Amino acid sequence: MKDANFLKENNARQLWHPMGHPREMQEQPPKIITGAEGVKITDIDGHTAVDAVGGLWCVNLGYSNQVVKDAISAQLQDLPYYSAFAGSSNPAAIEAAYAVQEFFAEDGIERVFFTSGGSDSVETCMRLARQYHRLRGEPTRTKFISLKKGYHGTHFGGASVNGNNRFRINYEPLLPGCFHLPAPYPYRNPFNETDPAKLAQLIAQAFEDEIAFQGANTIAALIMEPILGAGGVIVPDATFMPLMREICDRHGILLISDEVITGFGRTGHWSGARHWGVKPDMMSTAKGITSGYFPVGAALIGGKVAEVFESSDAEGAIYHGYTYSAHPVGAAAVTACLSETLRLDTKTNAAARGAQLFEGVQRLAKKYDIIGDVRGGHGLMTGIELVSDKAAKTPMDMDTMKRIHQTAYEAGAMVRLGAHNILMSPPLTITEPEVNVIVKALDAGFAAA
Ligand SMILES: Cc1ncc(COP(=O)(O)O)c(C=O)c1O
Repeated sequence: MKDANFLKENNARQLWHPMGHPREMQEQPPKIITGAEGVKITDIDGHTAVDAVGGLWCVNLGYSNQVVKDAISAQLQDLPYYSAFAGSSNPAAIEAAYAVQEFFAEDGIERVFFTSGGSDSVETCMRLARQYHRLRGEPTRTKFISLKKGYHGTHFGGASVNGNNRFRINYEPLLPGCFHLPAPYPYRNPFNETDPAKLAQLIAQAFEDEIAFQGANTIAALIMEPILGAGGVIVPDATFMPLMREICDRHGILLISDEVITGFGRTGHWSGARHWGVKPDMMSTAKGITSGYFPVGAALIGGKVAEVFESSDAEGAIYHGYTYSAHPVGAAAVTACLSETLRLDTKTNAAARGAQLFEGVQRLAKKYDIIGDVRGGHGLMTGIELVSDKAAKTPMDMDTMKRIHQTAYEAGAMVRLGAHNILMSPPLTITEPEVNVIVKALDAGFAAA
């Protein structure tokens, strides 16, 4: 590794950091993380902090899982790459697909299509949804409905169903035929409805209205996160996803559950849809599938969709995929990661530690007026929305957000900013004392603000 001075000088010179302004990154270079152990990260200056971000909602097993690391190393020795495009396969991929299907069997998942990440998985589900309807003789079903505040990655398909205009406006025109419903977000919504159950009903009615307006026979799928992550950890009422499922069924619309964050135990259940008692038609996954140790995603296909493809003629061929779909090293990481996830029963710890973190943050909300809303309580996904005026709900300015972030970091916890929200998704292996460190560090951050 080059010395610290070289790394600091070149941090954002050649490297354009995703989701940042290139010049701002040069002026205020991002933290350089050089090492990690357990749930703690160390930066180039030797400062250590509990990683309340889990890398980027992905390092579910923490940074020190030797079983996954060994599986990756061993696979690199055996077969570092071979394509899985029609005509060839590899043992690691076959084994990984078996493990993933078994992991999600209770969600009705029967087939697995590997990708290189979450955006790829979303794109894959969207394409398969359109092809599914064509195969069934309904080629007019091409449109997508999604939720405002939803995040579905940055490919053109995902950006088109994305519900945050920051990820859209510079890249328009996006895919035609994508329409958005209000988010199940009691703190701010166009209905001024603070009761989550009533809000769920209102959005369900808006969905019905949109279907009537567009024509059901033009809509391919609804794509939604079971708990909205990047949009601020927005937790819908328990009735919401079942309501959306029922409406989809009544109108022949597929339900794609975007489980890139919520899959693999983060919500306290193995999938977000299962958390709400819903079986989706397809699921987009990534992140926790390898705990971030290797870039892998997967589009998961339910029985109803699989049956249509597998019983079709030549039109059912899937002309879609990536050079690194079913990459053997990634696949070895998947199999090891799932077996560790099950062995450690990470969902149970996610539920317990998530409740602790949520309670800790709720205590802080009583102490600081700048906390407008606290969201979570379903596993290890916690959001804090900050305001400069509580009555007017004025979003907190970014300078103050950055000061809170830096103070919390110096006090021992790395958190993530998403506009005026603090977002937390620590490894699912986090311990009780480590959660306490996060709460104390946030306390220091809010005190500084
Ligand atoms: C729900 C959801 N879908 C899709 C994506 C995109 O995944 P990736 O960044 O791996 O492309 C993300 C990323 O955070 C996500 O949270």
